[in-house]
Amino acid sequence: MHLTILVTGATGTVGREVVKQLSMYNGDIRVRAGVHSVIKGENLTRLPGVEIVEMDFEDKDSLQAAFTHVDKLFLITPFAKGQVHMAKTLVDEAKENGVKHIVKLSAMGADAEPPIMLGSWHREIEKYIEDSGIAYTFLRPASFMQNFVNYSASTIKSEGKVYLPTGDGKIGYIDVRDIAAVGVEVLTGEGHEGKIYELTGPEAISNGEAAQVLSEVTGKQVEFVDVPSDAARQAMIAQGAPDWMADAMIELYDVYKAGNSNQVFDSVQAVIDRKPHTFKQFAQDYKECFE
Ligand SMILES: NC(=O)c1ccc[n+]([C@@H]2O[C@H](COP(=O)([O-])OP(=O)(O)OC[C@H]3O[C@@H](n4cnc5c(N)ncnc54)[C@H](OP(=O)(O)O)[C@@H]3O)[C@@H](O)[C@H]2O)c1
Repeated sequence: MHLTILVTGATGTVGREVVKQLSMYNGDIRVRAGVHSVIKGENLTRLPGVEIVEMDFEDKDSLQAAFTHVDKLFLITPFAKGQVHMAKTLVDEAKENGVKHIVKLSAMGADAEPPIMLGSWHREIEKYIEDSGIAYTFLRPASFMQNFVNYSASTIKSEGKVYLPTGDGKIGYIDVRDIAAVGVEVLTGEGHEGKIYELTGPEAISNGEAAQVLSEVTGKQVEFVDVPSDAARQAMIAQGAPDWMADAMIELYDVYKAGNSNQVFDSVQAVIDRKPHTFKQFAQDYKECFE
């Protein structure tokens, strides 16, 4: 009997990689990629064993087709104000449709005390899943290495600078390819129900050290600029971020700056039996994004 796995947020940074790696899995699975926009998801249909289905987390009626005959759910919701409500709607739909296992993309520090806004949202969703009675696994990654591609590549390319309000704080950056590999093992392997995996890379590095690695790999000078928090907040607002988003990001950056995201865990090695990518390996593999 084949297994049908629904991946939500399938065109996003993590979802796309999870779908790609599931499509390469050597077993009887069907991958349903839940996309917000069919046009954005079109290239996913070229992957073997992958079908796409349109879904809008804010429209319950759009979810029925996506959840039909689904056995397992890889749950990704976006960094949006309605994230908790969206996730709860998806969990309700999973329950109504007899989904047997939810693997949730959460975040490191979801249960930290005192909580920060982003962490508390993830913990609220985790608790809702725990109370649903559906088997679950929570993946709690640290900050993604791919954030450098998504948010800093343009200033690295144009000015040779990475602007972040994080001081010397070290961060256990993780490559999303490792998050996805853990996700695939959790979805297809055994013994992961009820587990919480804190996911980091093999080392914690400051953004100054990250810039140094990017300099070495690209062969051009990349400098880290430690922006004061107020200026960083103003810059985000000027670029169109709503107040709540700028506040949530500054709160998170303050955690990094204080060195409170500097832990390194061996969960990637424990689950997939190989070491996670180093920042240097990531920089080499994504080199052209920064040149
Ligand atoms: N970035 C980090 O360092 C980090 C670290 C730890 C945890 N996280 C967590 O990771 C999650 C985000 O993952 P990601 O970075 O892979 O996401 P992402 O790249 O921002 O992608 C979000 C996905 O959700 C889709 N989406 C947005 N609104 C939707 C809606 N209303 N209905 C259906 N689909 C919708 C988007 O599609 P469209 O683009 O077409 O709208 C996209 O496919 C968040 O929960 C965040 O807290 C992030």
